[in-house]
Order: sequence, then C-alpha cells, then structure tokens
Amino acid sequence: MRRLNGVGVGPGDPELITVKAVRLLRAADVVFVPVLARPGEEDAAEQGRAEATVRAHVDAARIRRVAFALNDPGGVTPGRAAAWDYAARVVAGAFAGRARTVAFATIGDPAVYSTFGYLAQTVARIAAGVAIETVPGITALQDLAARSGTVLAEGTESLVLLPLTAGAGPLAEALARHDTVVGYKLGSAAGPGIAAVLGMLGEAGRLGDAVFGARLGLPGEDIRPAAELSGRERVPYLSTLITVRARAGRGGRLGGMSGPG
Ligand SMILES: C[S@@+](CC[C@H](N)C(=O)[O-])C[C@H]1O[C@@H](n2cnc3c(N)ncnc32)[C@H](O)[C@@H]1O
Repeated sequence: MRRLNGVGVGPGDPELITVKAVRLLRAADVVFVPVLARPGEEDAAEQGRAEATVRAHVDAARIRRVAFALNDPGGVTPGRAAAWDYAARVVAGAFAGRARTVAFATIGDPAVYSTFGYLAQTVARIAAGVAIETVPGITALQDLAARSGTVLAEGTESLVLLPLTAGAGPLAEALARHDTVVGYKLGSAAGPGIAAVLGMLGEAGRLGDAVFGARLGLPGEDIRPAAELSGRERVPYLSTLITVRARAGRGGRLGGMSGPG
C-alpha cells in the first residue's frame, strides 16, 4: 500500500513535535516540505517554516522542497490552484517512482487552517491507491498559551478560534459571545488590520486580558500583552492573538452541574 502522511511539525520550535511525527518522517521514502517559490524555483527559496523543523530531525538526503503558494490572498486564485496542482503532481510523481511512503510536513496541525487538505484532495484524485493519513501537531495557539502562561479554557468556558481574515464582524461576534477568543492570521493584509483589532478589543473591554505572539519558536519571537502593541506597527504573518475573559478565583468557571473537568 502506498501512503501519504500529512505530518504536523508544530509552530516553529523543533522540539514541539510528537514522537510519532518524528518516527514517520524518518521512515518515509521522501519528505516534502512546502516553500514559498514559483514551481521549479524551489532551490532558490528561503527555508520554509516546516522545513526548519524537519531538517532538525530528518536526514537531508530525503527532504524535497515543493513550491506551494502560501501567500496568495484572494481565495482560490488561478496562481494558487496551479500551485496546488503542481505540488500534487510532484508528490504523485514520487509515488510513480519508487516511493511507497511519502510524508508532507505542515506547520502546526494538518487539520487546522493547513494547506495539506488541498494537496491530499488532489493527490487522491490523480494517484490511485494512495492511503492518506495525518499526524496531529502542536498548534500555534497551544504554544502561545504555554509561553504566555495563559489557561485557554476552564470549566464551562467556551473557546473559539477564528482567522482574522474573516473580517471585523466575526471577531466582534466572537468577543461578545465567547470566553476565550483566539485570532489567527493577524498579520494578513486581508484582515481588518491591527489598529481595528486593538480598537475592537478595547471596546469589548478585553484588551487588558489579551496576549500577542509572533514567530513563536523562531528567530525574532515576540510575545507581549496586546495592550503594548501600537495600532501603527506591522506584525508578521505568523502572529496570533488570545484573549481570555477574566476569571474570579480558582475554579470560578466550573458550572454547578459540571462533571469532573
Ligand atoms: C495557515 S495558519 C496555520 C495554522 C497551523 N496549521 C496551526 O495548527 O497552528 C497560519 C496562522 O497560524 C498562526 N501561526 C502558525 N505558526 C505560528 C508561529 N510560529 N507563531 C505565531 N503564530 C503562528 C498564525 O496566526 C498564522 O497566521
């Protein structure tokens, strides 16, 4: 059986990867890592985020870069669709060669806003008899919670994750309805912008309980209270925001009828 494993390699720190992920990466005939490049120009590209973690664990001879349009806002643009097709053909080509097991590394978890799903769908269409599996990875939101000493959810609290590229409306609704709100893609030009997000946190009375984390586990890591951000600064694409609702003492958010949690 031929197998394609989508492997979550964590948000950046090469130690934030599971034992299973390392085992499967090392056992794969080929390990693909996505890079930001035009097809055919992978070698000249900057090292990708998943690639850095993979290189810490896997023999370089089995690592292959593949172009993937990771930064192409605007939905399923022709460029993006072409890049997904290209990457799927490259992966299918590895199976057409001798590979029985192929791994594709993805930052964080492959089931959370990941490119792996698009690749897997296309590979399944063009390469017959390939079983597709994923290995969970540690997400950026978990890493930011750990590094900032934030408890994400207790007792009956709700926890919601949304991409800030969804716009101001969904963020306002989440801030009004949920206890803990996590925003991904804060640095994307497609979002409302840092000034608008800070303004909304302030209006909701939730700026003082918000933490910002950029480039977690990578050079230039930046973790600070969101209140210290200026509305004029530019934040990197790898930026995450968490705001929790203030808690009243130990176990204060346990419901009256709650179970052992
Ligand atoms: C396309 S999503 C990928 C999410 C990833 N699959 C996960 O499970 O965390 C990209 C967003 O994840 C967050 N992210 C991923 N890695 C990060 C890091 N090292 N530092 C801060 N945020 C990160 C950012 O919000 C970024 O805009």
